Amino acid sequence: MNTRSWWAQGVDVAKPSSARVYDVHLGGSHNFQVDRDLAEKAAEMMPSLPSVLRANRSFLRRVVRHLAGLGVRQFLDLGSGIPTVGNVHEIAQQMAPDCRVVYVDSDLVAVSHSRSILCGNDRTVAIRADFRVVDQVLDDPEVRSMLDFGEPIAVLFFAVLHFVPDADDPVSIVSSYVDRLPRGSYLAISHACSDDVQESTREAAEMYSERIGGFHMRPKAQIAAMFGDLEMLEPGLVDLTEWRPDSPEMPPGGKPWTGPGGVGRKH
Ligand SMILES: C[S@@+](CC[C@H](N)C(=O)[O-])C[C@H]1O[C@@H](n2cnc3c(N)ncnc32)[C@H](O)[C@@H]1O
Repeated sequence: MNTRSWWAQGVDVAKPSSARVYDVHLGGSHNFQVDRDLAEKAAEMMPSLPSVLRANRSFLRRVVRHLAGLGVRQFLDLGSGIPTVGNVHEIAQQMAPDCRVVYVDSDLVAVSHSRSILCGNDRTVAIRADFRVVDQVLDDPEVRSMLDFGEPIAVLFFAVLHFVPDADDPVSIVSSYVDRLPRGSYLAISHACSDDVQESTREAAEMYSERIGGFHMRPKAQIAAMFGDLEMLEPGLVDLTEWRPDSPEMPPGGKPWTGPGGVGRKH
């Protein structure tokens, strides 16, 4: 393929990135050998990993569809990753073409590729930023020109908060976003969970964490605390395969261990 469409100057091809390793698992082509090696090792240790990640993408699609169905027209996707099938703007704008979407990621390849596929879509923008620096994201001129802070906004943290160490206080990062949103806004989270994990999964997570520079599974109670006093949409914070599934059928081989996901509404 022509790498110029997604290549970004400054990418360290000797170090795996969470965005590119995730891309490998989803069958994408925006990754390097170092990412493929780590993805392969992680999947060897945890064979259900690719289906877990697909389950996360399916959760993302269902959440965005549901929120657009409720009338939400603005989405802020934090740690949005390398674009793949069923990106937030595709789902939202299919439901309502006037939906506006801001993608935020710290990974050069993710932002560069996002920009190339968003070219010509004037209701979307991708910015490179560390979402932990909340004011920098929310005060970014491109974000301010895309989102109307007088109207509800859905803030999406899909499979990203487990990259934030406790020392950075993920609960207060999330609440800083929620505090600056208008009433009627939504918060969606999916997060790797440390409750009841098999030993092989824990070992895979530790190996991944060492190579990637930090991966923090948390107990469900800590993930629930990230929603603060928001009103949880039904069915609450549940295994993300159980959040408004399209079909009640179990995937072949049974339900993969996935971690919880949920959506809260600000009153
Ligand atoms: C596992 S991928 C998830 C992608 C997408 N949200 C999804 O659920 O499919 C995690 C993404 O979060 C990004 N990320 C991790 N920490 C970040 C931070 N502090 N600021 C911005 N992006 C971050 C990574 O670069 C990567 O693209």
